[in-house]
Amino acid sequence: MEYVTANGATIPAIGLGTWELKGRVCARTVEQALRSGYKLIDTAEVYDNEREVGEGIRGSGLKRAEVFVTTKIWPDHLAPRELERATKASLARLRLSEVDLLLIHWPNPRIPLSETMGALCKMKQVGFARNIGVSNFPVALLDEAVKHASEPLAVNQIEWHPHLDQSKVVEACRRHGMAVTAFSPMARGAVFSEQVMREIAAAHGKSPAQVSLRYIMQAGGIPIPRAARLDLLTENLAVFDFVLRDDEMAAIRGLARPNGRIVNWSGAPKWD
Ligand SMILES: NC(=O)c1ccc[n+]([C@@H]2O[C@H](COP(=O)([O-])OP(=O)(O)OC[C@H]3O[C@@H](n4cnc5c(N)ncnc54)[C@H](OP(=O)(O)O)[C@@H]3O)[C@@H](O)[C@H]2O)c1
Repeated sequence: MEYVTANGATIPAIGLGTWELKGRVCARTVEQALRSGYKLIDTAEVYDNEREVGEGIRGSGLKRAEVFVTTKIWPDHLAPRELERATKASLARLRLSEVDLLLIHWPNPRIPLSETMGALCKMKQVGFARNIGVSNFPVALLDEAVKHASEPLAVNQIEWHPHLDQSKVVEACRRHGMAVTAFSPMARGAVFSEQVMREIAAAHGKSPAQVSLRYIMQAGGIPIPRAARLDLLTENLAVFDFVLRDDEMAAIRGLARPNGRIVNWSGAPKWD
């Protein structure tokens, strides 16, 4: 596994997303992923699978230090006391004493960001999280979060794939020394039918899924694709043995479109 470093964190260059993986399927998938070389597992209190993620980690036989576990706090729980309660509840479900990365899942305009950031930093200071960060924070909110944080923020986790230009927020993360985790890195399959993706994939003897993941990695992101089938888990990890040329990167960048965003809802912030 290759690693990315950011503001004191050492993060695996690719990970497994677990949204919608539930029950036995989740535990088995996490276990299989870790046995086949994954080192990063992404979950969240709202995914309702932290228990099974913990089971899968224990079942894998890997040492705790070999696995990078991310979880996220839901926006209803961003007031300081709630944030601490939610963190402890996640740790209890995972059966871990600390997570490697604790993120604010979405900003919540009804709760002062200064209070939330204070509480998040405390979670690092008391040892519940080795690293902290945010998710779905556009540039202005990211700048504000950094300003209010007494601890370095390691990550902003955002939707990022060839259909979505995220250059503004990616540049802001770079300016703050933060890593970018890319969720929905294959646009849930929407990029597979693009002729450009198919041609580049064929030229490298790879799949469009692998090209999408490689594109994110070369653009400086950490993709966290979700897959429940062992063959797809394996396929998604086989992205370290080829390199996209500059013209191929540019062609893929050209697939971005104004309506490329998949994850949006009434509570979402004003995007860049
Ligand atoms: N922070 C946030 O707000 C946020 C929001 C959304 C997601 N996330 C995180 O990001 C993770 C990934 O995003 P996502 O689940 O939205 O989308 P995704 O990873 O882009 O796509 C997942 C879909 O692609 C399929 N797939 C996986 N590998 C494939 C391959 N090699 N070839 C063909 N199809 C393949 C999966 O199939 P199967 O169904 O067969 O497994 C699944 O249906 C989530 O699981 C979650 O951990 C975070």
